Amino acid sequence: MIDPKTLADRFPGDFLFGVATAAFQIEGATKADGRNASIWDAFSNMPGRVYQGHNGDVACDHYNRLEEDLDLIKEMGVSGYRFSIAWPRIIPDGVGRINEKGLDFYDRLVDGCKARGIKTFATLYHWDLPLALMGDGGWTARSTAYAFQRYAKVAMARLGDRLDAVATFNEPWCSVWLSHLYGVHAPGERSMDAALHALHYTNLAHGLAVESIRHVSPDVPLGLVLNAHAVVAGSESQADSQAAERAFQFHNGVFFDPVFKGEYPTDFMQALGHRMPVIEEGDLAIISQKLDWWGLNYYTPMRVSDDPAEGAEFPAAKPAPFVNQAKTDIGWEIYPSAMADMVTQLYHRYELPEMYITENGACDNTDVVDGAIDDQMRLDYYGDHLAVAADLVQDGIPLRGYFAWSLMDNFEWAEGYRMRFGLVHVDYDTQVRTIKKSGEWYQALAAHFPKGN
Ligand code: NOJ
Repeated sequence: MIDPKTLADRFPGDFLFGVATAAFQIEGATKADGRNASIWDAFSNMPGRVYQGHNGDVACDHYNRLEEDLDLIKEMGVSGYRFSIAWPRIIPDGVGRINEKGLDFYDRLVDGCKARGIKTFATLYHWDLPLALMGDGGWTARSTAYAFQRYAKVAMARLGDRLDAVATFNEPWCSVWLSHLYGVHAPGERSMDAALHALHYTNLAHGLAVESIRHVSPDVPLGLVLNAHAVVAGSESQADSQAAERAFQFHNGVFFDPVFKGEYPTDFMQALGHRMPVIEEGDLAIISQKLDWWGLNYYTPMRVSDDPAEGAEFPAAKPAPFVNQAKTDIGWEIYPSAMADMVTQLYHRYELPEMYITENGACDNTDVVDGAIDDQMRLDYYGDHLAVAADLVQDGIPLRGYFAWSLMDNFEWAEGYRMRFGLVHVDYDTQVRTIKKSGEWYQALAAHFPKGN
């Protein structure tokens, strides 16, 4: 076990340690105070989409336990809280009527953080698209990008004066590819054409929101959270390294290139450009406006090898076997140094602003025994990844903070409640929260860093 004090000494004194959550995963109260359905409410109620039909109706009941949960964050001793705002609480039909009661909830949340000396990192989109927008095609429609811009404006006009940072999107890779190509996340489509539309309109929505947020809240540091994939070639063969480059473009480049270079990646465009929606003049300039920071969500590497099958669609790369045998309970390979290699590679490839690790953590389903949760695997995972984060800081990467995923166990999307990522255990029958061994360790680490607004 890495000693928290030894680790703390490797970070600058103003490094920010925080915890992260997302609205749909913790709030519950999906019908309260004028909230309307999101695509995840609908998706989780379709048979066979989510493990054992779990849904977000109650989740961690955070909506009704806000004060208690903010006290818990304070008790953890962290300096920052990363949360997301639910669009269907603010503009229940996606467009049209604004719901004041929805805004009131986030007002209380933000004020509650400030009163406790906790910095507020808000995410505007963590996958809960208002269901009503599916009538126009959801993210496959250009109009959704403009609807998002308006929502961003409304949310920031109300909350921006008390936010320490804001991100437009969380992991667009998931809401584009996983949701529209692989069919694993809502709305569950399996179509390359739909996915390519969702890709461009998500990027456009990001850019339009940046434009409006700069106007409404010019002082709030503005960023984007990407789950950049640490792509590793399955072998040193030329075919596999070419496959790795194609996979990089498909999984990372389609977000990084338009945002940080104002263009889509070359090989990707050659293979799929003709199936993209119309990229209007000015779109790429809107998408590539300057950001103040970017966030990395990292869990596991992506090992790929060439897929020579006839008709294999771009990127024609298939999963390659794990090299490290250690994996978390969700089956993801544990490989901390891949995070550092990837970050270094990204700073070579792009001109990136300063960064935060906005998510990192492990699924460890260790159960409660005599009132305690001895989740040693998660604790070691944190220690090993934070050691790598400290190396990055020492190597000069402008890494300013780290958010553990997650504050507490929650609705793990298609996996329902069976996969637990929390530093705090949630008993879903009683809603009792219990700090795990890893949570105590993180608490001991965070204790070495100053709090306050
Ligand atoms: C990334 C997502 O942002 C979050 O919602 C999810 O729970 C974690 N990864 C773990 O899979």
